[in-house]
Amino acid sequence: MIDIKEFKNRRKRFMDMIGSDSIAILPTASISIRNRDVEFPFRPDSDFFYLTGYPEPEAVVVLIPDREEGECILFCRERDEKMEAWHGRRSGLEGATTIYAADDAFPVEDMDDILPGLIEGHERIYYNMGGDQNFDQRVLGWVNQIRDKVRTGVTAPEEFISLNHFLHEMRLYKSRYEIKLMRKAAEISTKAHKRAMKNCRPGMYEYQLEGELISEFIQNGARHAAYPSIVGSGKNACILHYTNNSDEIIDGDLLLIDSGAEYQCYASDITRTFPANGKFSKAQRDIYNLVLSAQSAAINEIKPGKHWNEPHDAAVRVLTEGMVELGILKGDPEKLIKDDDYTKYYMHRTGHWLGMDVHDVGDYKLDGEWRMLEAGMVMTVEPGLYLPANSESLPNQWRNIGVRIEDDVLVTKDGYDILSKDAPKAVDEIEELMANAG
Ligand code: GLY
Ligand code: MN
Ligand code: MN
Repeated sequence: MIDIKEFKNRRKRFMDMIGSDSIAILPTASISIRNRDVEFPFRPDSDFFYLTGYPEPEAVVVLIPDREEGECILFCRERDEKMEAWHGRRSGLEGATTIYAADDAFPVEDMDDILPGLIEGHERIYYNMGGDQNFDQRVLGWVNQIRDKVRTGVTAPEEFISLNHFLHEMRLYKSRYEIKLMRKAAEISTKAHKRAMKNCRPGMYEYQLEGELISEFIQNGARHAAYPSIVGSGKNACILHYTNNSDEIIDGDLLLIDSGAEYQCYASDITRTFPANGKFSKAQRDIYNLVLSAQSAAINEIKPGKHWNEPHDAAVRVLTEGMVELGILKGDPEKLIKDDDYTKYYMHRTGHWLGMDVHDVGDYKLDGEWRMLEAGMVMTVEPGLYLPANSESLPNQWRNIGVRIEDDVLVTKDGYDILSKDAPKAVDEIEELMANAG
């Protein structure tokens, strides 16, 4: 059961922001075809779901602040005995009002007849253009129908406004309800990472460990991963978006696993790196501990009053100084940072917002300045080093080592709370877990 008070409250806050004279229109995601008559599993659009909690496809929510007959109108599929016998239960028009607390519900097929009448008389339409070209055309068609009637005295909307500004600001600050779900998503992923560490043996294939991860997700009620899992051994750990997961895991390789469950539409995003045979080599440990110190320095920068980029700056400083100490880079760390020379081995940012989407919504800068961290925001902290085989200036011992360590961190009133803290990451902890795996 969804917590309907939470969703009603979100709608109310959103409608207070857009104000009367406005109407907001949000379709859910379209169904995507995987091949011929096979569909990808349906996942609702995050903005739509955030305001409705409605999980079925072919739905559009219309929000009209201060409309006397009801402010929340859901267009959705009707009950249909035959279709339900083939494809599964529907909540129908009645469920739209009783379960999801819409004020009114209409069949989605009737939208073209009803929507122009609802839009009429409003000055502004909040709608995200560009997401779905077919739907864009329909919205423009409805507005043009009203424009054709302006001589009869009706008001046609003058302004299209993106929903992102108000809605994505709301989504950036997680409620207690959302934090509970995000904690659960992180807990499930933590179990999955531990299971992968315990089950890893040289000679296995990367996809076999992916199987362990996914099994753990599903066993715990998370039917889907928040993004395709990366299981990269050896040189594959240096490919940032490696998802083939097709190679044999060789004794002596490091293994980088970036994998997170999605739980009730909330993502987790965790990376752990560990030795396939359970023991870090000296070179692997040196690089690993450097990345771990960079992560710890970054996490220590997380608290209200710090800005978004401070954790990244801290990670870059530690990584660059460490690379100079190990002889991987040569020169003055300050200058190597200023000239972006460290990006040869650390080429991505230290994190991103996390929420319903893995790379979640929310601005990183406000008026051109990095935004300040505030309680309720959730971010990842994920420094890494990627030392590939083909870097000529790199001494042999460092080649083919790819390390990333990624946690999900909630900004709290006084600092932070690591949602994924139970996923082992100290060298000893990892080696011990793997040694005792049996
Ligand atoms: N798994 C995607 C990321 O770490 O950003
Ligand atoms: Mn990740
Ligand atoms: Mn990430």
